[in-house]
Amino acid sequence: MMIDLTDKVAVVTGGASGIGRGICKALAGQGADIVVADMNAQGAKSTADEIAATGRKAGIVDVDVTDRDSAAHLVAEALHLFGKIDILVNDAGVIGAAEWWKRPTPSDDDWDLVMAVNLRGVVNVSEAAAPHMKERRYGKIINIASIAARQGGADIPHYNASKAAVVSWTQSHALQMAPYDVNVNAICPGLLWTPMFEGLVERSISFGSTLGTNPELRDLGGREYFEKLVASVIPMGKEQTPEDIGKLAAFLASDDAHNITGQAINVDGGRRMN
Ligand SMILES: NC(=O)c1ccc[n+]([C@@H]2O[C@H](COP(=O)([O-])OP(=O)(O)OC[C@H]3O[C@@H](n4cnc5c(N)ncnc54)[C@H](O)[C@@H]3O)[C@@H](O)[C@H]2O)c1
Repeated sequence: MMIDLTDKVAVVTGGASGIGRGICKALAGQGADIVVADMNAQGAKSTADEIAATGRKAGIVDVDVTDRDSAAHLVAEALHLFGKIDILVNDAGVIGAAEWWKRPTPSDDDWDLVMAVNLRGVVNVSEAAAPHMKERRYGKIINIASIAARQGGADIPHYNASKAAVVSWTQSHALQMAPYDVNVNAICPGLLWTPMFEGLVERSISFGSTLGTNPELRDLGGREYFEKLVASVIPMGKEQTPEDIGKLAAFLASDDAHNITGQAINVDGGRRMN
């Protein structure tokens, strides 16, 4: 099997950083042109520059996925730039409002923003892109959930709930889009050392946490804490990377995955098996 995305057009929200950037590079590596969609202009430009250096085309669209008008503008701009959207990856996500890692429990603002970005953001962009995909009877939508969707937790209940909701939405949207030959799936990444996880580790070190379950981890610095955490909670003992997530995204975006829809697939070294 050779994944071939030659001349496909992919829109990737959250493409300015971490996992989203890894997905952009993986899709471009298989031949796709990419719309890097994010509110972080500088990060989006870095991703776009990396893609352009590989010979694929990359556009940048500033978007706030929490806003339906902004989501509609993203789709219109992508169509303006490339004439079609074959693939949509909803990766943009947060754990809370500004400086969330300094709070031991989520505030109302944390709850609201997490639901607005992680759940409504996915819905907003998906519904904005859906008419185009239905009309073409072609499309691959990939939602980035999390293994946090698989198990509640005392630490970040708002985040866990938002990601469980993304899995549920993925199933609902898959059923809505199935008659149009559009596939909708989710990926549940495990533990990745990205800016988001750096905040999680800082919060865990400050307040103690069920994240690590091991009190001696709290005396360690950020990256070292993360490595010990990975070794203690991931059965295969290794961290996940944006490249790992990008590889599954590329497969789900390909026509080889034409009969897979409504699924949520863990990429987590065996941390969760549901
Ligand atoms: N890092 C992990 O271990 C991990 C694990 C499981 C799932 N995830 C999920 O993967 C996705 C990416 O996470 P990451 O670790 O790469 O985080 P990150 O913080 O590195 O990247 C998130 C990106 O989303 C963008 N974003 C945030 N709010 C936005 C908005 N309203 N509109 C547009 N863009 C917005 C940010 O600007 C940023 O570029 C998230 O959905 C996250 O929940 C991460």
